[in-house]
Amino acid sequence: MIIDVLNGPNLNMLGTRQPEVYGSTTLQDIEALCADKAKLLGFELRFAQTNHEGALVELIHNAKDTAAGIVLNAGAYTHTSVAIHDALASVALPCIEVHLSNIHAREPFRHKSFVTPVAAGLICGLGAQGYAFALEALAEMLPPTE
Ligand code: DQA
Repeated sequence: MIIDVLNGPNLNMLGTRQPEVYGSTTLQDIEALCADKAKLLGFELRFAQTNHEGALVELIHNAKDTAAGIVLNAGAYTHTSVAIHDALASVALPCIEVHLSNIHAREPFRHKSFVTPVAAGLICGLGAQGYAFALEALAEMLPPTE
């Protein structure tokens, strides 16, 4: 069972990007954490990051017939992208929305998410560990395979 963990803009800068907000964990650290958790849960992990909205839409489309679920941190596109909302609606896969920071405790423009209405659940404010929790949530949600 393949799970896509998809990351949007500026998440490639983790480690040095506003460490007071996002901590010192790098995206490579998050990929390693996801790989460990996926292995434990019996998932095959596909991990990707892009700074481009259309590329993120295409990664979501690509999940449609190849993945069982999506973990998505759409970064700033969370708050702006109808296209990502529509892509998630069109693939109809369980999606767990993840944010490292607690978007509801930050600036008002981060309180609105176009992802949440088409997500199965939302994890925010728990740092990198949120990705591992999201994989666990998908494991609970998806039918077992033989
Ligand atoms: C983020 C929160 C977003 O508001 C921000 O634009 C990001 C990162 C997070 O993981 O906390 O790029 O998605």
